[in-house]
Amino acid sequence: MTNSLHRFGRYADVQAALADPHLVPPPAESGPPGSMAWLRGTVARFSAGETHARRRALVESDLARLDPAALRAATESGPDGDARLLVVRTLAEGLGLPDPDAVAKAITVVAGVYFGGEDADADTAVAWLLHQMLGSQQSEALLELAANRIGLLVQACDTTAGLVDNARRVADACPATHPTEAVLAETLRHDPPVRAMRRVAVRDTRIAGTEIAEGDVVILDIAVANRDPQVFADAETFDPERSGPPPLTFGSRPRLCPGRDHALALAAGILDGAPTNHTPDPAEAVSVMVEHVLALAATWTAWDGRPFPADDRIYTPHKAIRRVADHLVDHLAELEARLAGEEPQPDHWPASAITTKADLAPFTPADLDEARSRLARLSRIWVNRLNALTPEQLDHSPGPGWTFRKLALHLSGPVYYADAIGDLGGPT
Ligand code: HEM
Repeated sequence: MTNSLHRFGRYADVQAALADPHLVPPPAESGPPGSMAWLRGTVARFSAGETHARRRALVESDLARLDPAALRAATESGPDGDARLLVVRTLAEGLGLPDPDAVAKAITVVAGVYFGGEDADADTAVAWLLHQMLGSQQSEALLELAANRIGLLVQACDTTAGLVDNARRVADACPATHPTEAVLAETLRHDPPVRAMRRVAVRDTRIAGTEIAEGDVVILDIAVANRDPQVFADAETFDPERSGPPPLTFGSRPRLCPGRDHALALAAGILDGAPTNHTPDPAEAVSVMVEHVLALAATWTAWDGRPFPADDRIYTPHKAIRRVADHLVDHLAELEARLAGEEPQPDHWPASAITTKADLAPFTPADLDEARSRLARLSRIWVNRLNALTPEQLDHSPGPGWTFRKLALHLSGPVYYADAIGDLGGPT
C-alpha cells in the first residue's frame, strides 16, 4: 500500500498535528561521525521520544548560557553584511567556540543541505566543525553534545536571517514606524521565515476528522495557518499593533523552538544596528540568492504535484528553477552584450506568464541534483564576472539600462519564485 500525503493549513488543525505524539519529524538515517548524515541522525530536530528529550536538554543547557540581551547588543554593534554570518558568529562567540567567523561560514554550508541531499562540501564542513569542538576526544556523549551544538547553530542560521530580511521588507512597505519587537512579532505571523513543517505518522492517527495511516506524510502549512481568518481578524493585513494568539512559526510543544528569545534578540539587534555606509556587494547578493533558492529546493522533493498560486500566476518547483536560471542567463547575456558594445537581444521570454508541461513534472532527487549543479555554476559565472569588473564598469556601465551593480542586485528578485513554493519539508 502506498502512503498518502496530507496537508493542513487551518490554525487549529496545524496546532493539533504539532501536539500529536504519533506525528514526528521524518527520522534521519545516521552515518559515520563527522558526516552530514551523522549530524542529522544525532540532533534533537530529527529525533523522537526519549532520545529527543535527552538531546533537547543538551540544546537547552547550551541556550541557558546565552543571554538574549547580550546577543542583541552584539548584533547591534556587529558588522553589516550577511545576517546569517552575523547570527551564527554571535552565537558561536557566546558559546566560547574558537574561530567564530570560520564556524559561521561552515554552518552556512551545512544549513544548505540540513533537510536533505548530499554535498561533499557539507560533509567537510561538519567534519571540520566536529574537530573544532572536540579535537581528538570522541566519546559517545561528547559526540552527541557536539552534534546538538552544531544543530543549534544550523537551526538559528537561515531562520533568523530570514526573519530579518522579511521584517526589513515589510517595515519598508509599512507607512508608520513601530517598535522593532512589534514588527518582528507581526512578521513572524505575516511573512514567516519557516513556511511549512513536515511530519510522518509513526502510528495511525486522526487530525480534524482525517484518518492518517502509519507511514503517511503530513505537511503543515504554517504560512497559511498564520493567516487563518477564523483566528486572525483582517488576517491578510500587516498590523504590528495586533494582539491575539501567537503565530505557529516557532512550532508548538513538545518541539516549540527553544531558541525563540534568542532569535528575537539577535534579529532586533541587527534591525536596530547603526546604519553604515555599506554598499551592497553585487556578487554576494547573487550567491546569497542562489543559496537561498537551493536551500528551499532541497525540500521540494516532497511536492505533491499541486501548483502554488501567487498573485495571478501559478508556480511549481520546476518552474521556479527554470525562472531563476533563465533570469540569470537573460541578464548575463545583456551584461556581456553591453560590454562587447552590442545591443542586448530583445526580450521575447514568456517567462512566468506560461506554465509548460515540463513545469508540472514531479521534482525528483535527480532534478534537485541537476538544479544544484546548474544554479551553482551560474552563480559562480556571475560572481567571477562581477568580481572582474572595475568599479567604473559597475557603477558607470556601458550601454543602455541599469548599472551592472543595480542589475546584479535586481537578480535577487527570483527569490520570489522560490518563496512562492516555500519550504515543503520543515523549518531550518
Ligand atoms: C526566527 C527564527 C527561528 C524560527 C522561526 C525557528 C523555528 C523553529 C521551529 C518551528 C522549530 C520546531 C521544529 C519542529 O517542530 O519540527 C524549531 C526547532 C529548533 N530551533 Fe528554532 N527557530 C528560529 C531560531 C532559532 C534559534 C536562534 C535557535 C538557537 C539559538 C534555534 C534552535 C532550535 C533548535 C535547537 C530546535 C530543535 C528543537 C527540538 O527538536 O526540540 N532556533 N525552530
